[in-house]
Amino acid sequence: MNAIELLKQDHQYFRQLLEKLGQTTERAVKTRRELLHRLKGELEVHTDLEEQIFYPAFKKAGEKPEAIMVHEGREEHRTVDALVIPDLLKTDPGSVPFSGRVKVLKELIEHHLEEEEKEMFPRAAKVLGKARLEELGQQMEERRRVLKQAKAA
Ligand SMILES: [Fe+2]
Ligand SMILES: [Fe+2]
Repeated sequence: MNAIELLKQDHQYFRQLLEKLGQTTERAVKTRRELLHRLKGELEVHTDLEEQIFYPAFKKAGEKPEAIMVHEGREEHRTVDALVIPDLLKTDPGSVPFSGRVKVLKELIEHHLEEEEKEMFPRAAKVLGKARLEELGQQMEERRRVLKQAKAA
C-alpha cells in the first residue's frame, strides 16, 4: 500500500471511532472509556508514522510551503495529544463536560484529517512521486508492526 493510501485508511477508521464516540451518552461510561482508549492508541501510532516517516520525507522533497504544512500538522498533533486527550482522560465519562470535550476532539481531528487529505497529500503525491510513496508506505507498515509489538509487550 502506498503511504497516502495507508494514512487515508487510518483516517477513515478515526472518523468511525469519533462518530461512535460522539453518539454515546453519559450513560455509556464503559463504551466511552473503551472507544477513547482505542482512539488514543491508534492515534499514537498514526501520528508517530507521520512524524517519523511521512512528514520528514515530504518536507525534504518540498520547499517552504511544504515545510509550513508540516509544522502546522505537528502543532495540531500536539494539541490533540498533549491537551485534549489528557484532559479527556481526567474527565468523568459519565459527565456532561466529557460530552463537550468529545465534541471539541472530534472537530479538531476532523479538521486535521481534512487538511492532510485536501492540502498535504495531493501536494505530497506531486513532490514525492509514485515510487517514493510506495517505499514510504512499506517503511510505515514495518514501523507500525514494530510499534504494535512494543505496545503489546
Ligand atoms: Fe496527522
Ligand atoms: Fe493523518
